[in-house]
Amino acid sequence: MFIENFKVESPNVKYTENEIQSVYNYETTELVHENKNGTYQWVVKPKTVKYEFKTDTHVPKLGVMLVGWGGNNGSTLTGGVIANKEGISWATKDKVQQANYFGSLTQASTIRIGSYNGEEIYAPFKSLLPMVNPNDIVFGGWDISDMNLADAMARAKVFDMDLQKQLRPYMESMVPLPGIYDPDFIAANQGERANNVIKGTKKEQVQQVIKDIKEFKEKNKVDKVVVLWTANTERYSNVIVGLNDTVESLMASLEKNESEISPSTLYAIACVLENVPFINGSPQNTFVPGLIDLAIQRNCLIGGDDFKSGQTKMKSVLVDFLVGAGIKPTSIVSYNHLGNNDGMNLSAPQTFRSKEISKSNVVDDMVSSNGILYEPGEHPDHVVVIKYVPYVGDSKRAMDEYTSEIFMGGKNTIVLHNTCEDSLLAAPIILDLVLLAELSTRIQFKADGEGKFHSFHPVATILSYLTKAPLVSSTRHTGGERTVQAACNAGEHTKGQHWLGS
Ligand code: NAI
Repeated sequence: MFIENFKVESPNVKYTENEIQSVYNYETTELVHENKNGTYQWVVKPKTVKYEFKTDTHVPKLGVMLVGWGGNNGSTLTGGVIANKEGISWATKDKVQQANYFGSLTQASTIRIGSYNGEEIYAPFKSLLPMVNPNDIVFGGWDISDMNLADAMARAKVFDMDLQKQLRPYMESMVPLPGIYDPDFIAANQGERANNVIKGTKKEQVQQVIKDIKEFKEKNKVDKVVVLWTANTERYSNVIVGLNDTVESLMASLEKNESEISPSTLYAIACVLENVPFINGSPQNTFVPGLIDLAIQRNCLIGGDDFKSGQTKMKSVLVDFLVGAGIKPTSIVSYNHLGNNDGMNLSAPQTFRSKEISKSNVVDDMVSSNGILYEPGEHPDHVVVIKYVPYVGDSKRAMDEYTSEIFMGGKNTIVLHNTCEDSLLAAPIILDLVLLAELSTRIQFKADGEGKFHSFHPVATILSYLTKAPLVSSTRHTGGERTVQAACNAGEHTKGQHWLGS
């Protein structure tokens, strides 16, 4: 059974005028490697950690600024939210379709909250805590192409014509602000689009982005802004000692107009300096170590990397299932072909490499979790191929072959064909990322023994469910995640050495 909303009555939960206060006892274990009479053994000690949470119940008026607003994802999300807000329906060849938020965890999923007369009761995810209603978000942002959002929606070829016609009047007046363009970081084939760019040095570009955020906030009378990168995938930046490995080196490089600071890092610097949460939806290493440290220093939320929308979402679920079932995936081969502008940009080797790295990391955690199936350091063969095929447009095709070893040397092969409708999968994920980022900034907590309430760690691990290459703080490092520590291990800190390697 489904219910719309509920209230909690418990000694552990208190509703005040401005807050929900709650106490949560987290049952966990502590592992110790102990020397017992000369031999070491692992000892598991159950423990309970008491957490106290405070959630500010005032839902702000939220502004969302997208970098790459005029792209397929940006225009699809903006149009989709307008359609929901205005209650638009449109004729397709099958039926009259109503606007909805399918694919959004916060808007379209439910949580089991208990049972009533023996029946399971589910409530919307969004009823758990007060959250921004997506229909109330004010959208804005930057794009290196000056096309208005109505024309951008037509260029994207994602929505049905009848819907586009109805959305056009709302979107014609929406024009992206000039963006930071550096042809060295995205494919040369994007050059034609770049007619709307911020001039000046890198420092001046950062200052302009800060000014844009302030003006957007003021003009739209929003209480909070979240910025999200859904612009083209960039190549990786080289992480070099003295260039971008610390806050000081990054800021000094900004002063010196160093060429190796990517546009995405420049937007991120601006946001962190303005204390505006910044989320990276693409695979590149926007969050160089100096930027991560800057976010930690200023306690500004950052999250990423790379939306987990289609093929990778399936891969996370399937490999987790197979390894969890005691089956050993030994070869995972993924082909993609797509015909949208993202696909065209990824046809350059440097940008493709960013995507390849991010797509390849997803199985690492599962593999390292099972020492019965895999020897230390052993990995399945994992290959990712992406091809640009203009005709299929935004309707990305992903074909995967999983071969696994099963009982007594047998082999099992699973083949999947996934038609991804790229932007229709990504848009609701973007929505979740900004809504959860905003919610995270309203939650304070403290664990047993901690004197004061504090916010979540600025590196927002909670958002990583929605991303392919989760950025986590170094204290939480496991297998496939990219951390400051991992970056060092991978040689990102070595002078002149490229993270990309050969
Ligand atoms: P798109 O190419 O349609 O849109 C990107 C937009 O960014 C373009 O309008 C371009 O003019 C603009 N742009 C490029 N550099 C910019 C800059 N420095 N500043 C401001 N604007 C800039 O691409 P799409 O399909 O919307 O995807 C966006 C990003 O999301 C890509 O990096 C893609 O890899 C990533 N992504 C998409 C997924 C999906 O659609 N299912 C899944 C995972 C990641």
